[in-house]
Amino acid sequence: MQFVQNQKYLLHTVFIVLFTAILPLFGQSAVPLTQGWKFHWGDSARFAQPDYNDATWDTIAVNRWWNDQGYPKKAGFAWYRIHVVIPSTLKQSAYLKDSLVFHLGKIDDFDQVYLNGHLIGENNHAVPPNAVPTDTFASRKHSLWDVPRRYALAVTDPRIHWDAENVIAIRVYNWGGPGGIYSGDLRIAMADILEYLQVTYNPGVFQKTASGWEKQVMFRNRSRKYPMQGTLRLTVQDNVAEKTLRSETHPIELAPGDVQEMQFRFRERSHSTTVRYVVQLEHSQQQFQFAEGIPYILTPPHSQALALNPPYVYGQRPGHPFIFRIPASGARPMAFSAHGLPPGISLDARNGILRGKVLQRGTYRVRVTVRNRYGSASHTYRLVIGDTLALTPPMGWNSWNVWGLAVTQDRVQAAARALVKYHLADFGWQFVNVDDGWEIPGNSTQPGRAPNGEILTNAKFPDMKALGDSIHALGLKFGIYSSPGPLTCGGYTGSYQHEDQDARTFARWGVDYLKYDLCHYRDLMKDVNDPAELIPPYARMGRALRDVSRDIVYSICEYGNGKVWEWGARVGGNLWRTTGDIWDTWERMAEIGFQQDKTAPYAGPGHWNDPDMLIIGWLGWGNNLHYTRLTPDEQYTHISLWALLSAPLLLGCDLERLDAFTLNLITNPEIIAIDQDALGYQARTVWEQDSVRAYLKKLADGNLAVGLFNLASQTRKVVFPLRVAGIQQGVEVRDVWRRQTVGRAQQEISATIPSHGVYLVKLLKARK
Ligand code: GAL
Repeated sequence: MQFVQNQKYLLHTVFIVLFTAILPLFGQSAVPLTQGWKFHWGDSARFAQPDYNDATWDTIAVNRWWNDQGYPKKAGFAWYRIHVVIPSTLKQSAYLKDSLVFHLGKIDDFDQVYLNGHLIGENNHAVPPNAVPTDTFASRKHSLWDVPRRYALAVTDPRIHWDAENVIAIRVYNWGGPGGIYSGDLRIAMADILEYLQVTYNPGVFQKTASGWEKQVMFRNRSRKYPMQGTLRLTVQDNVAEKTLRSETHPIELAPGDVQEMQFRFRERSHSTTVRYVVQLEHSQQQFQFAEGIPYILTPPHSQALALNPPYVYGQRPGHPFIFRIPASGARPMAFSAHGLPPGISLDARNGILRGKVLQRGTYRVRVTVRNRYGSASHTYRLVIGDTLALTPPMGWNSWNVWGLAVTQDRVQAAARALVKYHLADFGWQFVNVDDGWEIPGNSTQPGRAPNGEILTNAKFPDMKALGDSIHALGLKFGIYSSPGPLTCGGYTGSYQHEDQDARTFARWGVDYLKYDLCHYRDLMKDVNDPAELIPPYARMGRALRDVSRDIVYSICEYGNGKVWEWGARVGGNLWRTTGDIWDTWERMAEIGFQQDKTAPYAGPGHWNDPDMLIIGWLGWGNNLHYTRLTPDEQYTHISLWALLSAPLLLGCDLERLDAFTLNLITNPEIIAIDQDALGYQARTVWEQDSVRAYLKKLADGNLAVGLFNLASQTRKVVFPLRVAGIQQGVEVRDVWRRQTVGRAQQEISATIPSHGVYLVKLLKARK
């Protein structure tokens, strides 16, 4: 519960509906309920009664949360009331004459609705006449904060007083954070025929074909009585040329209960396009519409030829188990050989996995060669046996953004296999990290620890050591999660007062990475932003990890409190989250990604700022997955920005369900090389004009990476002056996503960038 609450809290800060909109075309056909609401903090059954005198109650707006209307941070019960006449002319003018619908907008978190003293519905479900109200509506497991409430009553329902005053009273329960009725689109109207139409369109989901993309949209007439007729209007917009490429109308014809499927084909294009669908039914006062970006793949397909990919530098401590899978792409089978390996390391020639133990400190330049039937490739990898881990930002997968607390050992195992099977490991993706949800819940009857204090796993993780072994067998690395608090954010057992013992247990399980999440340690603090209080628990685990005979990358997660970037490295942190959680909206991703400048000076080999995990592919934070709500342009921005920021790259999607577009995003070796660059410089803003921002990253080879990001909601034409990047005499420009050198630029780079999109280039300085 606690966690669900936290998540909701975070989700509230920004709110948008991305893909769908029902547009009511009001007119005479509705009674607006946008104004005239009375509000009272507290709870009493009397508030439901029509004759209750609410004259002394406050008035309140229903287009924003109550928190910014004089009720900051209120959790608990509150009531809304409105007096309204429902004219019978509504019935006369309506096409469908059976039912009257109360559209009550979005209510945060739960609601119980009374009409003239009678309960008519709760949490978006109608209740039968004479239902007796209880409090159970307020204790659901998942908040309905984002669900528009709709209650339909038969026009003959005696609870409606036609042509007379009606009192609608809504009892709202809020868990915490923002609360109340807030979407503003409240009204009473006769049921519209469109409300019987179910449209299934899986936003953002397209199937790849030889020549482009295919999309299915399914329409179902859910009514048992009314036939439907109408149209779907489809338009495709070129977001760079800013012109309509295609516009067509398709008939919709559905007998009651019928299903109609439409299939659309879209050509593969070399840049951003958007498709918009507008549904208009005859006799409807509303339209249904949604829009989505059509995927476009920029990176050319990989040839069968070989490539040795980054990271080209890798750090380990002396005497600790060494494991590194050399990222090599191309047709398999392939054969690896290496010169200059430090003593104690052996190479598995078939799959390029280095294993062993190096006792001698030092920097070893290892020349790796790989061969397949098409040829060979060589590259020098630098192995640094010293004190510093994570010489480049960690890359891999973490269970949280996809499975949330529904993570299981099998799912983690499947992710590890998928990293190899879909060749992600060939591009450097190597960590397989279990997030929260493997421990025993704090409220379980089962103890969270064995009698000797050792932390226990729950039934979803029958054998951690076996899990670690199987991940290592693939040449990959195993990550785990805990909290300095007595409980984790999900309410599971944390490491509080067992730090050393847990570090030893993790080492025994073969753990290579620990994410240590503040969570309930906050309950033990006076000021969650005070470094003097934050440092001791993180330093304690930092020491505990240093003391085990295994390298464990230390990921600090305390949401940026107390400017963690200023002290994270000091307590042994290899990375630290700089913000609260990410989720898959443009607003949230941009809010996090574009506010990292202040942290930039603190990034470098061994210590990275972490703007949180990636939000591409199929995500869910639980059992119900959805495809990322970021458009293709926003996804290019997300990956480009994270690479420029030298951010840890942790996929948070279902790896067994990778589509062509997502795969393309995460297997461009030149993009990954920018992220994994040995210099470890974090890009920062160097220029801004008209909501277009330039980020510049210095690279180890003296070249520069520049990302031009369009934060505006329109296409922008930009001219980026090269002098901003310190270039006076022209430079070769390489388009990194397309993997093409585009020519020489003398003074500027011009680009047309779609809304929320990016142009990412490398500026190749002439070799001296
Ligand atoms: C949050 C953390 C998330 C995830 C979650 C687990 O505090 O920021 O990344 O780990 O806890 O409960």
